[in-house]
Parts: sequence; C-alpha cells; structure tokens
Amino acid sequence: MTTDTGFAKRFLWGAATSAHQVEGKATNQWTRWELENASSLAEQSKYHYADFEHWSNFKAAASNPNNYVSGRTANHYENYSTDFDLLEQMNMNAYRFSIEWSRVQPKEGAWDVEAVTHYRDYIADLKSRGIEPIVTLFHFTLPDWFADKGGFEKYSNIRYFIDFAERIMTEVGKGVKYVVTINEPDVYAEAGYRNGDWPPAVSSRWRFYRVAMNLMLTHQRTYRALKRVNGRLKIGLAKNSVNYYPGDNAWLSRVSAGWMQWLQDDRYLIPVVRRMDFMGLNYYQSARVYGYRVHNPETADKSDVDWTLTPGDIEYVLQRWYSKYKKPILITENGLADADDSRRQEWLQATIRGMRNAIKDGVELIGYLHWSLIDNFEWAYGKWPRFGLTSINYATGERTLRPSARWFGRVIKKLRGLD
Ligand code: BGC
Repeated sequence: MTTDTGFAKRFLWGAATSAHQVEGKATNQWTRWELENASSLAEQSKYHYADFEHWSNFKAAASNPNNYVSGRTANHYENYSTDFDLLEQMNMNAYRFSIEWSRVQPKEGAWDVEAVTHYRDYIADLKSRGIEPIVTLFHFTLPDWFADKGGFEKYSNIRYFIDFAERIMTEVGKGVKYVVTINEPDVYAEAGYRNGDWPPAVSSRWRFYRVAMNLMLTHQRTYRALKRVNGRLKIGLAKNSVNYYPGDNAWLSRVSAGWMQWLQDDRYLIPVVRRMDFMGLNYYQSARVYGYRVHNPETADKSDVDWTLTPGDIEYVLQRWYSKYKKPILITENGLADADDSRRQEWLQATIRGMRNAIKDGVELIGYLHWSLIDNFEWAYGKWPRFGLTSINYATGERTLRPSARWFGRVIKKLRGLD
C-alpha cells in the first residue's frame, strides 16, 4: 500500500555502514596495508587532492599519517547500541551493515564463537527495535589468511567464502530477510588490481578482469548456497552506478555515454541478474560525456571529495535499471562527503524527489539507505571525508546528529505516515 506521500508503508528508510569503516580494531588485509602505506599516503596527499575545491579545509588532516590508519575509527563494535539509538531518533526502519569475515574466521579453519555471538546479539538488537537488518557479507576486506592465498584472484578460493557465508547465515541469520553478498565487485577489483590504489595494490588489466569475473561467480554460487540455508532470504548484490550522460547532441558523445554506461553496469549485471532477488544500487554521481571523454561542468557544486553533486539524477538510474531488468531495487548506498553539513539536506531533498518520480513511473523501489549512518574510515582517503548523518569526534568518540539528519528524521516520520 502506498501512502499519499508517494512511498509504500513498508518502504525501508535507513542508513548503511560497513564493518571495517566503523567497527574499529580490525585485523585484516586492509589494516596491514594501512600501516605500510600511511606515511606515503600522507606525503602524496598534496599531489592527489590539491586541486579539490574544498582542499584547504582538509589539508592538515590529510597530511597527517594517522588519518590513514583506521585504528579505533568510531568504535562501533563496542558502541553499536548507541548507534542504533540514532537510527531510532531518525525514525528509520532499516539498517545495512557488514559482517567482518576476519573476526569470524581470524585463521583458516577457525571459528570465533565470541565474534559470532556478537553479530547474533547485534542483529537481535536491531530486530528488537523494529529495524530491518540488511546484512552484507563482503565489503572490501579480507582475512589475512585468505588474502595470502591469493584472495578472489583464484577461482579455487571461492569455496572459502561460500563456506563462511553458509555458516554465518546459519548461525546468525534467524530473522534476517535481506542479504547483500558482495559490495561493488567492480570497484573493488578496479581499485585493488587495476589502479593499484587499494590492497593488494596491483596494476594489471588481466588480473583485474579475473578478480571481477571471480566475484560475479562468487555471487552466483553464494546465492545458490544461501537459498539452501533459507529459501526465503532475499539476496542481492550492491552495484555502484555513475549516471553517464552526453553533454551535447553529437553522435560520438551519445555513443560514448551509452558505451560507458554499458561497461560500468550491464557487463556486470547481465551475468548475475537472474540470481538477484533485488538489485542493490549505490548511487553517488553523474558524469557528463563530451566526445569520448568525461568532462564535468567546471561550475558544478562539489562534495568534499570533489564529486559533482547531482542527486536528482538517481531518477534516471532507477528508470534505466528497472526498464532493463524488471527487478525490485533497494538503494543500498547514497550520500556525500560534507563535513560542514551545508549541502546534505538539499541532497536528500533532491533524492527524495527523484525516488518519488521513479516510483510514480512504475519503478519497484523498496528502500533507501543513506551512506552513512556515522562518519567512517573512507578507505585510501582515510578519515577526513565526512559522509555521516552523524558526526564522530574521533578523539572522544562523541556522536552528534548533524542538522540535516534531524531534518531527515522529521521527513521520514511524515513519509512513513507516523505523524
Ligand atoms: C563504498 C563505501 C564508501 C562509499 C563512499 C562506496 O563505494 O561501498 O564503502 O565509503 O562508496 O566513497
């Protein structure tokens, strides 16, 4: 049933995080890499980010090696209940998070009962508040032992992940309905194996391709395995999508934009879409194409990490995906780095408009999860980009809902018909 706000009563309104970015005190392939690279990342920051529009605000933080070490981050592992209070304060009814494989299986063959109990309690806490847990099984971080075996580069390693997925969902999955197998397989493969920006810092077209393909196969096999664990689970994958559009009417611009879109979306989605009960969409930005190049408007407003702010374009992504694949869509991530919170409310307003239009046009949209609930460790950027609805003071651990979050909470109340 749709309320007169344009959104169904059961629409999922929530926020998202991932384990490594918020839990703190992790031991995995990323933590190893952070320690090895913190100094050089701090040193290179002035070359990488100096032309960012808002660079002067972050220069000091980004030049400090500590910025690149996740460390305690927001210490969400211990403070999760406090963070779930924030979801309630914003009238949310859904929350996406990931289970950190390296905690559950710190060594090959090991099974950490304490970590498993932790995640069981974590999910039970959400359920007791009427919040729908949306579990992600792989969000960019690998246990050291699995990384040392070659990670997802080796087809024969996939079975280790399936084993983890089956076992953890058997043990903690009671009451879970939605599972995201893999977060952004292509982004992971590209950053780690083609651009060399993330561990294991490889730059090889062939190795990138192999990892990307293996991850698609991992999704298919995990889907089948989890359906055997619980046939009622709704299983999907979270795929990022940049909205490419031609900047003029020239033939080359139009063909290039279409081709870039296909390369980014469809070549990954086509092989797996039959094994998706819903499609997870991570949307952050559009890209304008002139000729065969992306060239965004110079005048456009930018987020703190210099991404062009085009929130309303989410409507086009939703329409394109739905008209092509006819599957329910869950927005698994969407948001912006905005430390002073001067653009987040506007972003949310335009996004809600875009979603409403898409629903009106018949798109089966089941929910919206903002990235992120709290400030987090933003991978190779470190801690300076602030994506949180809630700000974190990393020195004291203090959490404060940003003004846009308080506004969003009031809007959700209305949109859910709770007023
Ligand atoms: C990732 C998140 C990340 C966000 C913002 C997505 O690509 O899934 O882990 O924090 O984008 O960069």
